[in-house]
Amino acid sequence: GKGYFTYDPGFVSTAACESAITYIDGGKGVLLHRGYPIEQLAEQSDYLETCYLLLNGELPTQQEREDFVNTVKNHTMVHDQVSTFFKGFRRDAHPMAIMCGVVGALSAFYHDSLEISNEHHRRIAAFRLIAKMPTLAAMSYKYSIGMPFMYPDNSMSYSENFLHMMFGNPCEPSNISPVLAKAMDKIFLLHADHEQNASTSTVRLAGSSGANPFACIAAGIAALWGPSHGGANEAVLDMLNEIGDVSRIDEFVARAKDKDDPFRLMGFGHRVYKNFDPRAKVMKQTADEVLKELGVNDPLLAIAKRLEEIALEDEYFIEKKLYPNVDFYSGIILKAMGIPTSMFTVIFAVGRTVGWIAHWNEMISGSYRIGRPRQLYTGYAQRDYPDMASR
Ligand code: SDX
Repeated sequence: GKGYFTYDPGFVSTAACESAITYIDGGKGVLLHRGYPIEQLAEQSDYLETCYLLLNGELPTQQEREDFVNTVKNHTMVHDQVSTFFKGFRRDAHPMAIMCGVVGALSAFYHDSLEISNEHHRRIAAFRLIAKMPTLAAMSYKYSIGMPFMYPDNSMSYSENFLHMMFGNPCEPSNISPVLAKAMDKIFLLHADHEQNASTSTVRLAGSSGANPFACIAAGIAALWGPSHGGANEAVLDMLNEIGDVSRIDEFVARAKDKDDPFRLMGFGHRVYKNFDPRAKVMKQTADEVLKELGVNDPLLAIAKRLEEIALEDEYFIEKKLYPNVDFYSGIILKAMGIPTSMFTVIFAVGRTVGWIAHWNEMISGSYRIGRPRQLYTGYAQRDYPDMASR
């Protein structure tokens, strides 16, 4: 790297890889993308510009930005036969199950012409994935409610187009609120990358075998689905609904502290942050803005804010260094936007696709070896096969 950061030898031995894309200081609650603080990017940039930064290492000039946006627009459509994959799913299939399937299936459409050692091929794959994820995500939603798929409208911005494909219908022109499009863009931006989290590490491990990028991203989607990772945003809403009223918060906080109770406060805690997740602060501010703009007075937001206040003053959470993470407020915003909870993790996957691709490309474009984690064996020593009578 550029040597701005030094690590103690103990940490170096635990590191899975070297990367120049994202830096996290969990103790200070710092998140940098190619050196730029997430707070500044969230305030002054947008999702596609942040995609350019993550992929290329620098912010684009005006011309580079326009070229990047236009190239993404050229890839928003999916092969018409991809839509037949959806018809194989039950209507009540979880959208993440559909996304695992259809994104992996893109390998069947684009893998043959793709040589991952060719930088130009890798770039095209990156554009295809970044451009098609919103289209496929919206298709998984439309399929679940029995509505026709919407074509992308490339006259719109990336996030406006996603909401158009989610909520539009072929019979009427879309009228997407600029406030909601901006909030959607900020949610994608805040989820764009986060160093070596479980799903990104999954993409790197899959990619280290030389698997094609569409298969690797499908593996990342599968890893993201778990409630301890990207599935937490959906789990936060389920938890707030189960709490139901601020009067019951203490009961659930007590359960979260009870070692014998598997219940954990969804949206709290982090493998790395032992301070506030800087994304959560931005997400909380966005939640206030969106609900105010929509005139939504969501009682779940009141429960979330009271829960945060109680948890931040609770000695257990203080001692364990448990703070709200990126998932704590995102679900409140998405719910206010009319997005069903089953789509929350899909939206996380759409935003994170650029991070997965940036890490995959960083590894493949350098020298890499197949990942092969080792283990501490705790099983039997060698023994002989017994015949049935002696078992
Ligand atoms: C994401 O890695 C990334 O970067 C992920 C992510 C990204 O952008 O890719 O940031 C996205 O996945 C955010 C996390 C979303 N998950 C949740 O909100 C689910 C709820 N959180 C927990 O399940 C938990 O905090 C984890 C899984 C996130 C982290 O689990 P760890 O590694 O066990 O947490 P820890 O080591 O810091 O825990 C310290 C202690 C433990 O107790 P002891 O073993 O010390 O007795 O705190 C406890 C934990 O049991 N604890 C919690 C808790 N989280 C940790 N207790 C109650 N409620 C919680 N939420």
